[in-house]
Amino acid sequence: MRIIAIANQKGGVGKTTVTMQLGAALSRRYRVLVVDVDRQRSTVWWAENVRERLPFDFSGDQNPRVLARLRELRVEYDFVLVDTPGNLEDTPVLETVLDAADYAVVPLTPEPLAVEPTMRTITRLIEPRHVPYAVLLNRIDGRIRSQLPVWQSLLDTTWGVPRFDAYLRQFKSQSDAPVLGQLVTTLRDNRRTAGVISDVTRVGYEMSAQVAPAQVQPAVGGRW
Ligand SMILES: Nc1ncnc2c1ncn2[C@@H]1O[C@H](COP(=O)(O)OP(=O)(O)OP(=O)(O)O)[C@@H](O)[C@H]1O
Ligand SMILES: [Mg+2]
Repeated sequence: MRIIAIANQKGGVGKTTVTMQLGAALSRRYRVLVVDVDRQRSTVWWAENVRERLPFDFSGDQNPRVLARLRELRVEYDFVLVDTPGNLEDTPVLETVLDAADYAVVPLTPEPLAVEPTMRTITRLIEPRHVPYAVLLNRIDGRIRSQLPVWQSLLDTTWGVPRFDAYLRQFKSQSDAPVLGQLVTTLRDNRRTAGVISDVTRVGYEMSAQVAPAQVQPAVGGRW
């Protein structure tokens, strides 16, 4: 089981979007649990709108200590994705999640004002815990040609932080998805939705290549 925190103390950068869509993409090949520890409960609301087409298990348990408990219980998930709060008041919640996490995905929108809170999340909360992480660029505007290379090079050179090669572009079908109860696994693939589906699928592949689910361990003294 690999616990993946979707974390950034900057609000509105796409944590909930990444948690739900990445959970759906990974559920095509893996056993996935999505946990919402944000009291805004956006993930819960989205999941309720998807209803029976939800392709992963879901827990709206607000207590982040549930994660340590999942490990003790040795529950059978390959990936547990955790949507976390994007505000400073809930820092203790995020800290508890990061204490339990194997990896952190840090969504970042290409806005100057998002940079400082993102770097603070990385340097104050993620790096001190030695949790491997990567920044995921989100809401890239396909019409602005220089935007992607400029932000990639800022991450690589100026700030020197790891990032996903894959990124998510800005799409209306992405912002409509929560209210319509859609996920990449429920969207019909057409001209309007193809970009969202391919972007999220690429992030899913890169994620599972970086964080392979744990090998099944034989129980002590037990059998395979
Ligand atoms: N790639 C995208 N294309 C279009 N809209 C997007 C995209 N990513 C996120 N959004 C929209 O941006 C808004 C913020 O996204 P989201 O709620 O996922 O961010 P968040 O980090 O979870 O916010 P909070 O910190 O408040 O929990 C939402 O309205 C969402 O639909
Ligand atoms: Mg959110």
